[in-house]
Amino acid sequence: MSIPVLTIDGPSGAGKGTVSRLLAKKLGWHYLDSGSIYRSLAIALLKQSVDLENAARIVDVAQAMTLAFECGDELIVKLGDEDITAQLGLELIGNTASIIAALPEVRRVLLQKQRDFRRHPGLVADGRDMGTVVFPDAEYKVFLTASSEKRAERRYKQLIEKGIDANLTRLTKDIEERDRRDSERATAPLSIASGALFIDSSDMTIDAVIGEVLALIH
Ligand code: C5P
Repeated sequence: MSIPVLTIDGPSGAGKGTVSRLLAKKLGWHYLDSGSIYRSLAIALLKQSVDLENAARIVDVAQAMTLAFECGDELIVKLGDEDITAQLGLELIGNTASIIAALPEVRRVLLQKQRDFRRHPGLVADGRDMGTVVFPDAEYKVFLTASSEKRAERRYKQLIEKGIDANLTRLTKDIEERDRRDSERATAPLSIASGALFIDSSDMTIDAVIGEVLALIH
């Protein structure tokens, strides 16, 4: 019997991470934060001062990197022996990830690493192309979005709570730029998988979003 997969795709800041993690916990399923794989590659490239125009070199680094994910209350990510969890959330890393994610060769190399997360009893997979490319045969598909202003506001609050200085206008601009890059790229652009449940979380609580997704599964 095939292992069930719930895919949650959508733009950055729509609440996919929080919602996916809570759903994985409720269902007792594994969790794939695919964005963290692109982000980890971004960290590896910046550490090695790789030129982001040099696709061949980027692919080499992607092939060579070893990642380990430890899913407890918080997701801990190790690149080789180094715990890179704290760096994953930086704006620079997210923006760099979005630049390299547009390279088709990079996406090809990372495809199997993502599919390897599909293990019993099930998987919640969060990203941009989970339902369209990585797990097209997933039983349950969701597209979770929110207005760019709302997403920037949420991000702003998160950063301020962490004591990180932030500028709302700048964040809104970055989010819109990232949306444009993720949606307009030729390979695996952000798009709504056919049959996906569309949820706009702009005016919804996390519990309400989770309720809608659980209703789809049960
Ligand atoms: O979701 P997150 O913000 O962590 O993703 C960082 C970047 O990685 C995104 O802006 C996107 O360009 C890329 N990404 C992707 N496909 C995925 C997940 C993330 O292209 N499945």
